[in-house]
Amino acid sequence: AGSGADREDSKDAQLETVRAHPAQDVVTTDQGVRIDDTDNSLRAGERGPTLLEDFQAREKLTHFDHERIPERVVHARGSAAYGYFECYEPLTELTCADFLSEAGLRTPVFVRFSTVQGPRGSADTVRDVRGFATKFYTREGNYDLVGNNMPVFFIQDAIKFPDFVHAVKPEPHNEMPTGGTAHDTFWDFCSLQPESTHMLMWAMSDRAIPRSLRMMQGFGVHTFRFVTAEGRGTFVKFHWRPKLGVASQVWDEAQLTAGKDPDFHRRDLWEAIESGSYPEWELGVQLVAEEDESRFDFDILDATKLIPEELVPVKVIGRMVLDRNPENFFAETEQAAFHTANIVPGIDFSNDPLLQGRNFSYLDTQLIRLGGPNFSQLPVNRPVADVHTNHRDGYGQQVIHRGVSYAPNSLSGNNPHQAGQERQPGVFKHYQQRVDGEAIRKRSESFSDHYSQATLFWNSMADWERQHIVDAFRFELGKVETAEIRERMVGNLTHVDAGLARQVAEGLGMELPEPGDDAPRRGDQASPAASPALSQDN
Ligand code: HEM
Repeated sequence: AGSGADREDSKDAQLETVRAHPAQDVVTTDQGVRIDDTDNSLRAGERGPTLLEDFQAREKLTHFDHERIPERVVHARGSAAYGYFECYEPLTELTCADFLSEAGLRTPVFVRFSTVQGPRGSADTVRDVRGFATKFYTREGNYDLVGNNMPVFFIQDAIKFPDFVHAVKPEPHNEMPTGGTAHDTFWDFCSLQPESTHMLMWAMSDRAIPRSLRMMQGFGVHTFRFVTAEGRGTFVKFHWRPKLGVASQVWDEAQLTAGKDPDFHRRDLWEAIESGSYPEWELGVQLVAEEDESRFDFDILDATKLIPEELVPVKVIGRMVLDRNPENFFAETEQAAFHTANIVPGIDFSNDPLLQGRNFSYLDTQLIRLGGPNFSQLPVNRPVADVHTNHRDGYGQQVIHRGVSYAPNSLSGNNPHQAGQERQPGVFKHYQQRVDGEAIRKRSESFSDHYSQATLFWNSMADWERQHIVDAFRFELGKVETAEIRERMVGNLTHVDAGLARQVAEGLGMELPEPGDDAPRRGDQASPAASPALSQDN
């Protein structure tokens, strides 16, 4: 490890201060006491019981007993690497983000790729979405772009995420399958939630079985905002494009690989970096002026829609190279905490209801996964920017704070002060959006078309790609035990493309279900009142 990075790297320099170096010295306890023997516990006579006073044995066993922390509730299986992002040209006309302000400026990054469904020890080459999470250690604080390798998502509102994840995770009674989506609960949910259809098309395509983590695109999915120093906003979608191009496995190959080498993607990434063949991506943006927010026939706040590149081309703004493997999987890859709300001056959110919920969920889950409020002090998460807060104490506090920790105060000259209302370079200020509305639990009508972009996706496929999609639906739905779920799903597919639905139905040996008169719409198809599970209870 540590192969690349023959360059100035502020993150690497920071990590060097906490790296443990192998000692050729006598082994010690956690307290630094040198000890003679870690192989034999202290006992009363050679064949007698172990003595409680054996603090060495107790410490060794206790530490071992506490080695495990909860794996991520989703995206548990992942692999990561360090590298840098290099800005191609100053983007100051669009954003005051410091890391996008200067041609050639390099910002250290840590990137974690992941599958979504399986546990930490599951196979790499399953059919699944891949996470593509990037932490930029910018001079103005950490910026996390927590994306996937597909540009859309299964649901429109974060409040559906627990439902979705409960459905995609293995069956509750027998915890199968531990990887992939070929089971009843997943298809039950998706068939009842037609907003998932566009994402399903991606998930049944070759994009869900990447050849290599180095050959995947990445997408921020949501519409975000760039904000200039003067406070002007522009909507932005983020795209990572792999230099090696996009490549996938075929399904049989993916299954064989999963059996022969469950670490196939992890090994490929690791070995590429060790051998100096550093994976590289370009970062592109699609930009939409604030006044054009409503110019499309879909809502740019709807995460089940993409902005077709024919309508808004992708502008390439920089590149990212991964050139250093982590040195300790647990310390770095496992303890890394990405969060959509980790943004920096120059970047802001949109009102996408999926994004808004994510902004709550990541920090919340990390509080339990990483044991309390101080996980941003862990080496992999620590910003290279200076940190000055009045936050104090908590489990695992690493900092010896000095002085008082409240504001206003007149006692401590060291206290951090607030930057104030005036715009100042390098100080985060929210985009000042006018917000007005009644509190209402209702999805916008502009989110109701669940099929047009699914059809667009299907129409954009080559014949062989279509065949793979048909085969995937046949395979996956073929594993579904409940006939009504298969029928409902194929019924939904008739709204995407009649030929697709017919071929899937043939493969499943079933009649083609009658399509409804109209494509189902949010409100009549999947609102709580219309959902079978809920209406039965009413
Ligand atoms: C983890 C992406 C939607 C909750 C992750 C990770 C990625 C990701 C890449 C792995 C981060 C890592 O490597 O540590 C996405 C994308 C989404 C999405 C692209 C939709 C566009 C959601 C939603 C929620 C959510 C709607 C909840 C409301 C979580 C949680 C984790 C996670 C709790 C585990 C985080 C941790 O333990 O560190 N997501 N996600 N995600 N995601 Fe999402």
